[in-house]
Amino acid sequence: MKIVSGIAAWRDLRAGMRGSIGFVPTMGHLHEGHLALVRRMRAENDIAIASIFVNPTQFNQPSDYEQYRRVLEEDAALLEKEGIDYLFHPDAKDMYPDDYTIRISETEISKELEGIHRPGHFTGMLTIVLKLLNLVRPDRAYFGEKDYQQYLLIKKMAAALFLPSEIIPCPTVREESGLARSSRNTRLTPVQKDMAAQLHTLLQSPLTDQQVQQKLDAMGFDTEYVTTQWGRRLAAAWLGDVRLIDNIAYNKEEKHAAVS
Ligand code: PAF
Repeated sequence: MKIVSGIAAWRDLRAGMRGSIGFVPTMGHLHEGHLALVRRMRAENDIAIASIFVNPTQFNQPSDYEQYRRVLEEDAALLEKEGIDYLFHPDAKDMYPDDYTIRISETEISKELEGIHRPGHFTGMLTIVLKLLNLVRPDRAYFGEKDYQQYLLIKKMAAALFLPSEIIPCPTVREESGLARSSRNTRLTPVQKDMAAQLHTLLQSPLTDQQVQQKLDAMGFDTEYVTTQWGRRLAAAWLGDVRLIDNIAYNKEEKHAAVS
């Protein structure tokens, strides 16, 4: 696996690539959820590319950005084991030569749910994803359904801006308890981790969104939202100082999970 940081070096390398190109953008600190995307991407394309870039513009708190775990060597070893051909690992100053004065914003979906609780997050996320897609120019780019609103926005941006890359959603990878895999899970205590699995269990229940929220709060979560839209049931809740999000395919009329 070749690791490339400089933009000019990357562009030279990219110009020489032939065959179908798959891409998984990440912020590193990889877990099984990322590896599922990487495996599918590796299987479906001639050339497999991953990126690791901790994007400063999508963090709401500068301290979260500073404290985000950066474990490049461990991540690179995992990616190499999965047969990735190229790891693109640019610097923030190189990715933002404009000092973030040029931004991509969406004015509908991005204003709901996560957009309310994390102002500016989606603008930072869309801006970096567009930059990465422009630099990598993949045939297919893979995103996890755990961040469902993010996936919807990237798909919408790709269609609106006529991007040539196909945006492919991949199912959420879960622990045996049902807890969605996330880099943040490592910050949960063992007791919190058991409790966190209730988020997925309750999302699947026939209770109303409001009842699910009440149950979560009664258990000790600080719930931001539980709602059913886009054919999904989605929730965000704090457990201690860890913010968890999850969603499942959900049939509103029949009030049950459309898939497990
Ligand atoms: O989902 C993520 O890890 C990030 O939002 C992404 C898509 C890599 C953009 O920074």
